[in-house]
Formats: sequence, C-alpha cells, structure tokens
Amino acid sequence: MSDATTALYPAPDSVSKGAFVSGMPAYEKLVAEAEADYAGYWARLAREFVEWKTPFTKTLDESQAPFFKWFEDGTLNVSHNCLDRQVAAGLGDKVAIIFETDDGKVSRHTYSDLLARTAKLANALRAQGVKKGDRVVIYMPMSIEGIVSMQACARIGATHSVVFGGFSAQSLRDRIQDAGAVLVLTADEQQRGGKQLPLKAIVDEALSLGGCESVKNVIVYKRTGGNIAWHEGRDLWLHDVTEKQPDTAEPEWVSAEHPLFLLYTSGSTGKPKGVQHSSGGYLLHAAVTTKWTFDLHPDDIFWCTADIGWVTGHTYIAYGPLALGGTQVVFEGIPTFPDAGRFWKMIQDHKVSIFYTAPTAIRSLIKAAEGNEAVHPKRYDLTSLRILGSVGEPINPAAWEWYHQHIGGGRCPIVDTFWQTETGGHVITPLPGATPLVPGSCTLPFPGIQAAVVDETGKDVPWGQGGILVIKKPWPSMIRTIYGDPERFKKSYYPEDFKGKYYLAGDGAIRDAKTGYFTITGRIDDVLNVSGHRMGTMEIESALVAHTDLVAEAAVVGRPDDTTGEAICAFVVLKRPRPTGDEAKAIAKELRDWVGKEIGPIAKPKDIRFGDNLPKTRSGKIMRRLLRSVAKGEAVTQDTSTLENPAILDQLGQAY
Ligand code: WT7
Repeated sequence: MSDATTALYPAPDSVSKGAFVSGMPAYEKLVAEAEADYAGYWARLAREFVEWKTPFTKTLDESQAPFFKWFEDGTLNVSHNCLDRQVAAGLGDKVAIIFETDDGKVSRHTYSDLLARTAKLANALRAQGVKKGDRVVIYMPMSIEGIVSMQACARIGATHSVVFGGFSAQSLRDRIQDAGAVLVLTADEQQRGGKQLPLKAIVDEALSLGGCESVKNVIVYKRTGGNIAWHEGRDLWLHDVTEKQPDTAEPEWVSAEHPLFLLYTSGSTGKPKGVQHSSGGYLLHAAVTTKWTFDLHPDDIFWCTADIGWVTGHTYIAYGPLALGGTQVVFEGIPTFPDAGRFWKMIQDHKVSIFYTAPTAIRSLIKAAEGNEAVHPKRYDLTSLRILGSVGEPINPAAWEWYHQHIGGGRCPIVDTFWQTETGGHVITPLPGATPLVPGSCTLPFPGIQAAVVDETGKDVPWGQGGILVIKKPWPSMIRTIYGDPERFKKSYYPEDFKGKYYLAGDGAIRDAKTGYFTITGRIDDVLNVSGHRMGTMEIESALVAHTDLVAEAAVVGRPDDTTGEAICAFVVLKRPRPTGDEAKAIAKELRDWVGKEIGPIAKPKDIRFGDNLPKTRSGKIMRRLLRSVAKGEAVTQDTSTLENPAILDQLGQAY
C-alpha cells in the first residue's frame, strides 16, 4: 500500500473553487447530514435531483428487508426526467450528445432531437403491443439508437435489459429466456475497429436455439446495410416502425420502485444473474453522483468511454449526464483504431473536460505510447481536461501516475470510482474538488453510503487491517432483487453469516491506518475481473465441460496480468491422453473458440494447461489455491502431501 502521508494529491484550486462539493469541510458536512438524519438526507436529494409527478410521502421502507423500498409512493418517469425536463428548462437546443462513429464521422444531437426520437420509438413499441412491465432486450452497438432504445423503454415503463454486443448467441439466448423478453432491439451489424461484426445474425441464432418463445418482434436498426436474413412477420426495420409515429408520447408514470432495467452480471456460482434496478432511487443516484463525482457543470464536455452493455454505460451515459442536462461524447469505436492515439485525438477535437475510462484501457495505451511516439498523448492538446476518472478495477499506482501526468498534465484530479453493477452508481470515490488523492485508493464513501470493512462475523476491523467490504445501510440505487430469484438475491448479498444485516459487496478492502482511506484488495469470491469485465470461474468451467467430446474436467482460476488486470487460466483434463506440443496448441485453440461461442470472446482463457488429472484433496476437492500458484508461475508452497498424484504438478507447468 502507498503511504498516504507521502503520496497525497490535494484537490487543486482550479477545480476546488466553484466545485459543487468544494473542500473537505463541504464533504464532511454532507456526511454529517446523512448521519444525523439518514432518510431525511436522501429525501432532500430526491426532491432536488428528481422531478416527481406525485411526490413521495415515505422515504425508506425496511419492513421487508433486505428487499428495501425507496420513495415507493412517489411517481415519476425516468425519460421525462432526462429529456422533457431539459427541454422545458430551455435546453431544447443544447447538444446532449456529440456522437463519433468508428470511422470518425461526427454528429450532434440536441435534447429536442433526442426527445423526439425517443417519443417516436416509444410510440412504435406501444404499437407493437409492448406494455408497462414487459421486458425488452437491447443488443445494440454504441449509438444514438441504442441510447434512444433505453430511453424509449423507460418512457413506456418497459424494463430493458441491455446485452453487450460481444456476448455470443448462447449467452444472449440465456438472457432473453431468463428475462422473458417480448421484443429485441438490435442492429444489422456493428462497426468497430474498421470491421463489421454481426448482431442481427446472432439474434437470429439465439432465437433459433429455443426457449425464447416470448419474443414477438425484432426491431432492427440499419447501421451498416450489411446482408442479413429476414423473418417476415417477426422482424421490423427501426426506420419503418418509427417513420410515421408522432414525435410526442405521453410518458408512463410509474412508482419509484418500478423496475427500470435488468442487467445480467456474473456471480460466483451458476448462470449470470439479472440484477434488477428501480426507477426513482436509481435515477437519483445516477444524477447526484454524476454531478458531485465528476463535478459536471453546464459547460462541461463529459466523455465516458464505457459501452451501454455494461452498468457504467447505463449510469454514466444513458441516464446520469442526461438527467443533469449535460453535454457528452458518445463513441462507437475502439481506443486503438485507426491508431492508439484515438482517445487523445477525440479529447482534443471535442474539447473534452471530464474523461472517464478503465485502467485496462490506460495500461494498453501506455504500452502503445511507449512503443510509438506518434500516438503519445504529448502529440495532442489535452488542455481542455479538468477531471479524470477511473472505473472497473483497481488502478495500479504506476498507471495512475502516468494518467495523472501525461493525460491530466499534473493538474487534473483522478476520481478512482469504486462501485458495482449492483450498487447502481459510485459508492466509494473521491470528490474532485474536495478529496486529497492517493494513487491506488478509491478514498472515501460517497456522502450517505455507509461503507465499512468487517470480519467474517460482521464486526468492524480496525483501520490498517484487511477485511470484507460491506455497506451497512440500504441506499437508494441498490439492487432490488435478482430477477426471478429472490432467494439467490438474499444468499448472495445478505447472507446469514452476517445475520442478513449488511450488503456484502464481494470484495475485500483495507482502510489506511491514518486516513481511513479505502483500498479494494480484490474479489473474495470466484469472480474474475478481466479488462474490467466480470466473469465467473464456474461459468467458464461449465462452458468448457459442455464440450463433451473433448473435456472431462476443467477448473478455472485467475492470475495477475499487466494489461488486463487479471487473466483467465484454465486447467483441463481431456477425455483422451494428455496432449503436448502442436497437438496441445491445436486443442487449446479449439477450446478457446468453443468458450468464445458459448459465452463470448471476453471469456476465452488466456492460458490453458493440460493434466491427466487436477490436483485434489483426498475428499476430492480441487485445490484451487494450488492452481492459482501454478497459474502465476510461482513455486508451489502449499502442502501437497495429500495429492493423489503429485506428478501432475509437473504436467501443469506448461501453458498453451
Ligand atoms: C467489480 C464490479 C463499477 C462498474 C464497472 C464494473 C471491481 C470496480 C473498482 C475500483 C477496484 C473495482 C470490484 C467490483 N471494481 N471498480 N475503482 N477499484 N475495484 O462493474 O462488472 O459489476 O464489477 O469491479 O471488484 O466488485 P461490475
């Protein structure tokens, strides 16, 4: 851990002056307000940040804990809050989104434009029979159409479930089936890194796998004009169904607890879980964190580089910035096309003032810049930047320093935001005009979030000592349930060992002995974080053993990786003699492709090791700690005396 007293970066005056939360006393005042009257604090913010159709009379209902309810008798519409509210406030002609395509075409979309397009699509969805409470799956590229799809669902009270465009047909099918979706919104193809990649064809395949009988229609946005198959009666072009629709649509006024969206994410066991979020509490946190963590002012140009397929793209693209009437950049492509200077060029071109990205992107761009002067950030004018952000995984101090120095010119605070799909928005994060920064630490809880580090019994551990990260009180944007599986929700997040009291994040953490700053020490369950993407080891194991011709048994663990944070390592026992050399290489490739088809390319193991067996205890339990050492290339220090066949350790030494 870095020493907080030596490596401390105070908030620079240029940001602190005029910040919404300016200076530590302002932060502490908010914390104290929440401590003195928890419900009152959130109620005050809910009245300030959300426009209610009918005001709520009760803030927090804990009667069915851990199924908490916030602002339940209040009604609102999220799309009204993001769009109509801005137009009514005179921001109709303000640019909401500067959109840049993969090949560099730029278009500007005002709040009035977005509202009209959202209304047209909302009307079209209604015309197809989509009603309040129906689930709609969105399998779209980064696009105005993708964001409008989310907003249109919100407008009619349909619950959206966005599936990242990198997931396979199988994964898409599982999510459509679990959600019981009535409609899928997709595009013919997506364009990324100069390549056209299929989307509609994958939807076709997903629906042909069976179990998706709930789907009545597929609406297709024509992005590339590429060749696609057409199912008459089921498939509809987005431009056809929206063309003749009026550009106004009455919002569906829903309870604050109405489910705005489901987002599937990996857990330590079983299939991905559909994390269900509310409307009112979620929108409140999206708005207040966008405003305070990014200090988003009306003239800022905000750019979050996430995809709408992940929660970051929900909270900090589709909802937060729009709820505040901000201007943001949305990008279709990838950071390395046409070259690894793309992000820096876009910051320069659009005069981005707040930039939010993932450590994995920073690390790969550091490598690229070190290898090629032409894409070094010093070749670009980055002086428009005021604030930088990081999300998705711990940022190592070396990457932090580079980001601070080379992108931020030494003058921009970096907000290292810790949160999860389940938390809906930031829960531990610096506020840029207040919190002195320490590289590698996400610093302090967002005002009102009761984060703590405890031991296995739920007791607080002293600062300086590692433990389990929990949140002691419910907060407005927290996960409401796992769709269709309330028991799994309880077991995963409010387990009995904590007497069901605290929200269990699934991460370990330690607080600095002097400052109390939090550092996240990584997942304490079998969840990996690969390039900021969450993957369950069991999910990958299931995918491997589903290759029943080849695979007898498989175990998956993570190991540290310089670029991706963690890398996936698979230990595989085949149904044929253990391969070596070229044969092992060929089978490793086949297995990688297989996992890519089962889950998606992001789940492909980086290392595959073959053994005649896996190291197991006498009771037959796979010795995962030992596998983690092997994966890291470390000397095995664990007791191996219980191993049935110690020779397999030598076999596992070679990765393919
Ligand atoms: C997991 C959540 C947060 C939205 C994107 C990822 C890890 C996230 C940080 C951070 C250290 C972090 C945690 C967490 N994580 N942000 N700033 N420092 N670790 O959302 O896919 O739900 O993953 O990402 O392990 O539990 P997600």
